[in-house]
Order: sequence, then C-alpha cells, then structure tokens
Amino acid sequence: MPVVDQNKDSSLDSNYLAAVKQAMGKAYAPYSNYPVGALVVTEDGQTFAGCNVENASYPEGHCAETAAIAAMVLAGHQRIKQIYIMSQDQQGATPCGGCRQRIREFADAQTPVILCSPTGVQQRRHLAELLPHAFGPEFLS
Ligand code: THU
Repeated sequence: MPVVDQNKDSSLDSNYLAAVKQAMGKAYAPYSNYPVGALVVTEDGQTFAGCNVENASYPEGHCAETAAIAAMVLAGHQRIKQIYIMSQDQQGATPCGGCRQRIREFADAQTPVILCSPTGVQQRRHLAELLPHAFGPEFLS
C-alpha cells in the first residue's frame, strides 16, 4: 500500500498543525515526558483534539488519540476523515497498536493518518499501512 503523499509542508495542513501542536502542549505526561497531541477531522470539517493524560497508576493513563476520538463521539460524530498525531520526535508521532484499532473503529483502510513533529508533517500514511488486515465493525454486522 503506497503512502498517501510524501509532501511534508503542505500549506493545507497549517491550521490543523497549529491545533494539534496546541493539544500536544496541553499533555499531562510527567512520567514519560512524552507529550502527544491528536486532532481528528470529521467529514464536515469539524476538529476534535486530544492529548495524553498519564496517571501515577501507570496503566490508567490514556493516549492522545483516545481522547480526541472520545471528544468526537461525544459531539455526535462517528467518522474520521483524517487524523493528525504529533509528538516531539523528529520522525513524527506514530500511534500505538491500541490507538490504531481505536482509529479503525471510525475510519477505513484509506483514511489518512498524518504523523507530525513540531516542525510539521513527517509522514502521511493510510490506516491500512499501519493496521493491515484489520478487524473492524463489519465483522460483527
Ligand atoms: N502515547 C500516545 O498518547 N499516543 C500514542 O499513540 C503513543 C503513546 C502516549 C502514552 C504515554 O502517555 C506516552 O505517550 C508514552 O508512551
């Protein structure tokens, strides 16, 4: 499966990049010191942000993507058009396995997952590249 587009500095991304960076800046990550931001964009262009929120009881922390998806669902949306994820890694963030599956619930194989660092977009991937042969809701219908 080819990547969507390797262009790393599309001006179309700039508002979304600012929003996901702001979300990353709100992260509560005192244990890992690894702040992450996520920004879900819905089909109608609405955006929902999330950050990671860690906990002294480590497994109780949650990922940025989880928070952004929960905000989207709470607002009444159930389809992800694209999702931006930012960490401070120069190569860009990459979603954990659990979050790939959480994204899959509200997205499809071709949904762009846009991996960002503070300097901009580093990689554009389709969800199917990150989670091939995924189990999704259609298996249960
Ligand atoms: N983290 C995320 O927020 N999203 C991911 O997809 C990868 C990991 C967070 C969880 C934890 O707070 C920190 O990054 C280090 O694992």
